[in-house]
Amino acid sequence: MRQDRDVYLTPPEVVATVLPLLPESLGTVLDPSAGKGVFERVLGDRASAWHNIDILPEMVGLTADFLNPATRSVFTLPIDSVITNPPFSLAQSFIEEAFRYRPKRVVMLCRLGLLASQRRYPFWQAHPPDVVAPIVPRPSFTGGGTDLYDYAWFGWGDVPVKGIRWVRWTASRG
Ligand SMILES: C[S@@+](CC[C@H](N)C(=O)[O-])C[C@H]1O[C@@H](n2cnc3c(N)ncnc32)[C@H](O)[C@@H]1O
Repeated sequence: MRQDRDVYLTPPEVVATVLPLLPESLGTVLDPSAGKGVFERVLGDRASAWHNIDILPEMVGLTADFLNPATRSVFTLPIDSVITNPPFSLAQSFIEEAFRYRPKRVVMLCRLGLLASQRRYPFWQAHPPDVVAPIVPRPSFTGGGTDLYDYAWFGWGDVPVKGIRWVRWTASRG
């Protein structure tokens, strides 16, 4: 059954696969769909400051709709890095909104199939990612096994790795 608001939390081992795709210093980071804050827990050491947003009050950080333009005024720029696992149904809107903050880099965990979507073709032509990193094996966001979908990190801007780079993870034992 589909989760309300696309609340699919990322295992920390999967978040850690993004580390080789990021610079040592992330500066001020915004996680605009933070859930329970796993990105900050795994990547926080590389940030000088970290802001979390989530639309649900039971999640961490500021309770706000990232796609509401009024949310932009809450933050003092610059934001150097926008990093998250966005709600899958809103992935493109999240990426476009992240660009509006004019960060040095945007890095998002999305379904790999977004790349072949006919509806999104104009978006990809306008914003080809600098790095696409398929995640092997397919992560599960529901707490067991692997997912039916393929996932990848998509990065734009100042990222140290360009092109296609596969990243791997191993599930921790119960
Ligand atoms: C796929 S989950 C990922 C959560 C977390 N980033 C993680 O990886 O564990 C997406 C999150 O986006 C939040 N969300 C959905 N729509 C949102 C919106 N418009 N603005 C901010 N957060 C939103 C959901 O409440 C949920 O926590």
